[in-house]
Amino acid sequence: MITAYQAVLATLLPIGITGAYFARTRPNQSHGIAVRLPVEAPTGMAISVDSPTHSTRPWPGGGPNGLIVVGSDHEVGSTNETEAAYQSLVDWVNSTWNAAIEPEYRWSAHDYSTPDLLPYVGRSPGSRSIFVATGMHKWGLSNGTVAAGIINDLIAGRDHPAANLYDATRFGDTRAVAKLITDNLKVGKNFTLGHAQRILRGGLDHLEAGQGGLLKTGNGTIGGYRDQDANLHTIKPICTHLGCPLTWNTADTTWDCSCHGSRFDPDGEILDGPATTPLEAPTTDA
Ligand code: FES
Repeated sequence: MITAYQAVLATLLPIGITGAYFARTRPNQSHGIAVRLPVEAPTGMAISVDSPTHSTRPWPGGGPNGLIVVGSDHEVGSTNETEAAYQSLVDWVNSTWNAAIEPEYRWSAHDYSTPDLLPYVGRSPGSRSIFVATGMHKWGLSNGTVAAGIINDLIAGRDHPAANLYDATRFGDTRAVAKLITDNLKVGKNFTLGHAQRILRGGLDHLEAGQGGLLKTGNGTIGGYRDQDANLHTIKPICTHLGCPLTWNTADTTWDCSCHGSRFDPDGEILDGPATTPLEAPTTDA
């Protein structure tokens, strides 16, 4: 056990139910690829002003032509056709640089956004000693730096010029509250109906190497994935945070929760919270 006068929760989303930030933010996933262009890559960092947004920065490991491209955003768990998200980045690179290249690396990650797009930083609601910093809206380098300054001053008993703006207990203006309500209605729908996701035909025996998804079994629905070595991984496809149905992410081979953004590996181990417990094993027979 750790005892402290003050604690700072800077864990992407505060773990557990502290401040109910899972219900006051939305999880947005971005995809990234590392490529070697046929020409020298831009040396600076850039972000497009058009939509959909793309950002680029040098990839030093790829030599002078190495470039990292990030974009293809969507809410966590909102689709299982995630190959398309990577492909759209590849297509953008090839059309922008008139190339025909494939990425050498690819990955995805998500961050949380608040209804008014400003982070929650400061004392958690109802607490004098727990401080939070979340909802960075993918601007963690700058917002994280500001958050550190605010929390540092609050703990030291000093004023900070941005403390009110980032106040972690605020609900925001009317527009922000309306967005909060809409977001939570959507979460409620996902919670009851699950994300529209097709059930794979056949049982576990029909799963091919590299294939995963929801399967009907004799007694219900389970989540299954057969890896490239033909090993089968099965889970109960219900999020252990608050019980939302999970979506299979084809490209990243993860189970994703559309309610608040928890992600799990094919065996149910936690990759991202707010869930703090691994997925359960399925209780049904194939
Ligand atoms: S992350 Fe909250 S129910 Fe899944």
